[in-house]
Amino acid sequence: MPVTRKPLEPAIAGTRRTSGAQSRERSTFGGAVLRNIPPPGGFRTYFYHDPHGLRGMPTLEVRRLKIAFDGHEVLRDVSFGMQDGELAAILGPSGGGKTTLFRCILGELRPMAGEILIDGQDVARLPTERRGIGVVYQSFALFPHLTVAENIGYGLRARRVLARDAEARIAEMVDLVHLQGKEHRPPRELSGGERQRVALARALAVGPRILLLDEAFGSLDATMRMQVLQEVRSIIRRQKVTTLFITHDQEEAFMFARRMIVLNDGRVVASGAPEVIMSAADPFIQDFMKMVLYAEATVQMGPDGSPFVMLDGVTRIPVHIPDVRGGEKVHVMVKKGAEAERIEVWPHDAA
Ligand SMILES: Nc1ncnc2c1ncn2[C@@H]1O[C@H](COP(=O)(O)OP(=O)(O)O)[C@@H](O)[C@H]1O
Ligand SMILES: [Mg+2]
Repeated sequence: MPVTRKPLEPAIAGTRRTSGAQSRERSTFGGAVLRNIPPPGGFRTYFYHDPHGLRGMPTLEVRRLKIAFDGHEVLRDVSFGMQDGELAAILGPSGGGKTTLFRCILGELRPMAGEILIDGQDVARLPTERRGIGVVYQSFALFPHLTVAENIGYGLRARRVLARDAEARIAEMVDLVHLQGKEHRPPRELSGGERQRVALARALAVGPRILLLDEAFGSLDATMRMQVLQEVRSIIRRQKVTTLFITHDQEEAFMFARRMIVLNDGRVVASGAPEVIMSAADPFIQDFMKMVLYAEATVQMGPDGSPFVMLDGVTRIPVHIPDVRGGEKVHVMVKKGAEAERIEVWPHDAA
C-alpha cells in the first residue's frame, strides 16, 4: 500500500502586514500565456493556454450552454472542456449558475441551447444514469437505513452487477476510502468526513467517466474541511477520474485543482491556473478573490532542521507538513481574514 502522508495542517503563521502596494504585487509563473479576448457584452474572458493542456478529445465538453428560468438567463454561453483525468474547479459566487450547470451536465435540466459532449458524444438524449457520471452532493445524500457497504454498493445493485463482483468492488472501495471495519455501520454512526468518503466511494464504485462534486465540503466544519479535502483529492488522483469540483470558496478551489473556471452571473469570466486567475485585472475577480497572494514556493531547511519557505524574499513562513523535505515544492496562500492575514502552506501535487 502506498504510504499516504497526512497532508495539510494549515500553517497559521500569525499576522503579516501587507501594504496596499505590496498586495498588488503578483508573481509570474512559467509557461502561462494570458490572452485577453473581449467577447461581445463587455465581459473580459481570459483564456489560459497551457502548453501541456488539452490533448486529443476532451472527456467532457460544454459548448455554448444557455438556460433561463422565467425569462431570467442563468447560463449564458458557457463553454469549457476537460481532458481525460483532469481536475478542474468551477468557482463562483452563490447564484452564479454553478448548480444549474451541474444539473445540465447530469441531465436533470435541459439546456435551451448548446451541447454537452462526453467522450465526444452528444448526451442530450441520454438519461442521467447512462451518462457515466458519479456525483457527490453537499448533503452527501446517503441512504440512512443502509449500511456503509450497502450505500457504496447501491449503484452496482441498480446496474445488476453480479453479487460476487459487487462484493469485491465494495471491498476495494472500502479500502480506497479507508473505512475498513466500518462496513456494517449506518451513516449516523460515522463522522462527517467518513460520511463524505462513503459518498465518494459510492460515486466511484460504478467506475464513472466523470466525477462531479457540488459544494461537497460545504457541510464539514472548518477545522476538518481542508484535511478532508486533501484526502478526497488524493483518492481521486489515484483513481485518475476526470473530476469537476464546484464551489463558491476560492480557498477550496485552489487547493483542489490547478485549473479554475470562474462562473459569475452565468458567464465564464476567467479560466486558468490559480496564478493566472489572481493576475486577472477584471474588477469582479479582484473583489471575489480576497487573497493577497497565491504562489508556489520551495521548502528550505533551517539550521535547526525546521522547514520554511520565503515569501517576497523577506518573510519567513514555517511549514507544518509532516515529512516535508528541503527542495520540495509547496503551495502558499495568503488570505485576508477578519483581523489578520492567514497563511496556509500545503503540499504540491505535480499531477
Ligand atoms: N429550477 C429553478 N427555477 C428557477 N430559478 C432557478 C432554478 N434553479 C436555479 N435558479 C436560479 O438560477 C440562479 C443560479 O442558481 P444556481 O445555479 O443554484 O447557482 P449557484 O449554484 O452558483 O449558487 C439563481 O438566481 C437561482 O435562483
Ligand atoms: Mg449551488
